[in-house]
Amino acid sequence: NDEIFKNVISHAKEYGFVFPSSEIYDGLSAVYDYGQLGAELKNNIKAYWWKSMVQLNENIVGIDSAIFMHPKIWKASGHVDGFNDPMIDNKDSKKRYRADQLLEDKIARYEKDGKQDKANQLQEEMDKALNDDNLARLKDLIIEHEIACPVSGTRNWTDVRQFNLMFSTQMGAMAEGSDEVYLRPETAQGIFVNFLNVQKSGRMKIPFGIAQIGKAFRNEVIARQFIMRMREFEQMELQFFVKPGTEMEWYKKWKETRLKWHLALGTNPAKYRFHDHTKLAHYANAAVDIEFEFPFGFKEVEGIHSRTDFDLKQHQEFSGKKLQFFDPEINQSYVPYVVETSIGVDRFFLATLINAYEEQDLSTEDKKDSRTVLHLHPVLAPYKAAVLPLTKKDGLPEKAREIMNRLKLDYNVTYDEKDSIGKRYRRQDAIGTPFCITVDHQSLEDNTVTIRHRDSMEQERISIADLDRIIGELVSW
Ligand code: GAP
Repeated sequence: NDEIFKNVISHAKEYGFVFPSSEIYDGLSAVYDYGQLGAELKNNIKAYWWKSMVQLNENIVGIDSAIFMHPKIWKASGHVDGFNDPMIDNKDSKKRYRADQLLEDKIARYEKDGKQDKANQLQEEMDKALNDDNLARLKDLIIEHEIACPVSGTRNWTDVRQFNLMFSTQMGAMAEGSDEVYLRPETAQGIFVNFLNVQKSGRMKIPFGIAQIGKAFRNEVIARQFIMRMREFEQMELQFFVKPGTEMEWYKKWKETRLKWHLALGTNPAKYRFHDHTKLAHYANAAVDIEFEFPFGFKEVEGIHSRTDFDLKQHQEFSGKKLQFFDPEINQSYVPYVVETSIGVDRFFLATLINAYEEQDLSTEDKKDSRTVLHLHPVLAPYKAAVLPLTKKDGLPEKAREIMNRLKLDYNVTYDEKDSIGKRYRRQDAIGTPFCITVDHQSLEDNTVTIRHRDSMEQERISIADLDRIIGELVSW
């Protein structure tokens, strides 16, 4: 599994999906750039989410709020005081670690060594210490379980301290009198503070939703597993505003709806599971993760939270402005309750790549052969088709260009005339292009081409006039 994960990472780089940020300067930890194909795949993921969440739901609208927000917002939301990780430093190596991560690693080690009882007990004790915000107890557990620094090998630890995950910067040109502002750690607050603007200007009636896609920033201390945990990442969030008392009904509905969204892309349902939270964030009365089976185990890709009226009430208090909805059906005003769905674009991108990636053995009795293929859903694939003239002469490139110029008005298609046709097919397989359209000598005579299907590798001869329809059917919603 480690091997597959490594191969996916190098595949992503080799074909222009994801590059380490600032690579020529040796990279920037936990920051990544999307390359030419990664940008297309990411855009398609966002379009799929936006279409299904915003455009197909009459009572959901989308916004695009600023990354910078009034600093008081993060006081009200609880992020200034509570958005922390418990950190511990090793005095010899001067390396800083997340205390809970050190303990998690130890639990995994116990499990590997068959010491399940010890693992369970430590897990329980750690959860309790985290729940109680008992930092001294976290340190005691690290000492009791003889956890050594992975770098220095020593157990010379500092106390555990809270470390805030928000990035901050100064606003205004003058240092004097300038204010500290934060880079938002979630997009959700931009929705909460615009609740009334949208409700009034859009004449929205409860229940209704506000959706947003945008960047979020967290100063994550543990940076590992590629684009799983980044310092700059993107979220796709929905805040769904409901009448108090109906939130559990909506929470259940969104839980099911969101899992369906994942499965609609054709992923094997066994790759997904729910993980209900027992430890709830300060704002939630119910929370569940949708987990995907990565090569390193089941991990969260999306969170669904019943956030009560916590955020709107806090913003009412801190801003001094009423954030209520007048419900004509009961002739009363109230602060709505909120059910949130929140998915990381990058983490879902990684799940998509891993799920699509296959190293296929195509050997026959007399010939060894293999290919790497990305079985991406056509809706997500960077290119919907590749147009390939069989040879570079006899007018085939011109005919292929004609087809290409027609198709590119509606679909993202690519053209390739370099190398043998077999090599070109393999290249398209590796980047997930669902079909290759090959133009040969017969095409000049009868206006037909062959279409090769990526997954089955089967080929069929069709009329050029039918291309639009066939591609359209495959890549439609
Ligand atoms: N507004 C709720 C919220 O932000 P969260 O569970 O902290 O909830 C939601 O984040 C989703 O955002 C996660 O399920 C994950 O997909 C993504 N995410 C969170 N932190 C991330 C990080 N450092 N790098 C990449 N994705 C992240």
